Amino acid sequence: MQGFKLLSGTANRPLAEEIARHLGVELCRVTLSRFADGEIFVRIDENIRGADVFIVQPTSAPAENILELLLLIDAARRASAARITCVMPYYGYSRQDRKDQPRVAIGAKLLANMLETAGTDRLLGIDFHQHQLQGFFDVPVDHLYAAPVFVAHYRKKELRDLVVVAPDAGAAKMARGFAKRLNGALAIVDKRRPAANVAEVVNVVGEVDGRDCLITDDMIDTAGTVAESARALKRLGARDIYVCATHALLSGPAAERLSAAPIEEVAVTDTITIPPERRFPSLRVLSVGELLSKAVRYTHSDQSVSSLFD
Ligand code: R5P
Repeated sequence: MQGFKLLSGTANRPLAEEIARHLGVELCRVTLSRFADGEIFVRIDENIRGADVFIVQPTSAPAENILELLLLIDAARRASAARITCVMPYYGYSRQDRKDQPRVAIGAKLLANMLETAGTDRLLGIDFHQHQLQGFFDVPVDHLYAAPVFVAHYRKKELRDLVVVAPDAGAAKMARGFAKRLNGALAIVDKRRPAANVAEVVNVVGEVDGRDCLITDDMIDTAGTVAESARALKRLGARDIYVCATHALLSGPAAERLSAAPIEEVAVTDTITIPPERRFPSLRVLSVGELLSKAVRYTHSDQSVSSLFD
């Protein structure tokens, strides 16, 4: 690809390599190291003057991933890249998207401001926590869905009398999309959060008795939401229960909770690196590498990316 450079930070190099493999390119050489006190140092080791630069880095924890991304964007801008696209498969801080309590920060907006200040010209992301986060940016945003990757996966399974279940009202739109594509019915869990990271199922709206269920969410953090939802569905007579979520944060007790819950399989994507200690036997990781590689290719050649939504 002419005048094209693909860079990766350290947050998810395997995904960047997968994107590079699909594009048939090598990752651009970059030095990413630390000073003795932990300060991050980045240097782009190839000439990128006049190049169309894509930088792959999810902003999952630790927060150093954000700083590393900002430094890479800054280095690319100062090295005279013609255009910089930030490929951010997971938008960390996206849950802090409004002032819903006194004296809180809006982290998602702050991150958008920082990326633009550093010099990104475009952003490519997948399954933002809220679609309208696109509006936090003044540069163009291509917001992809992992749904085609999951739908292809579930079409291969013989799910019977499928009901797609939104584990909370916020996930209903996503679940409706899956139900339409997989010819399933829709159910919605009425979830409450009595405290942060504590999920409580109050009610399930929809018929699940004797049916296979697919719970869909944008992310699994501590897994309270999907584990409690699965238990509630089982109590109501659900047959096999599957879970899919784009972003596998899988923090704290997640692996333990998901292993103990009545779930056949938990499918996630590789937007975030999943270390071995967060994996468990029923976890299935699907790659968004090909999807992102197509989006990168189309962006580089100024083609529409809308075919990727099908
Ligand atoms: C909530 O709005 C999100 O879509 C997820 O349902 C939530 O962040 C998952 O958190 P946890 O896995 O800790 O219940």
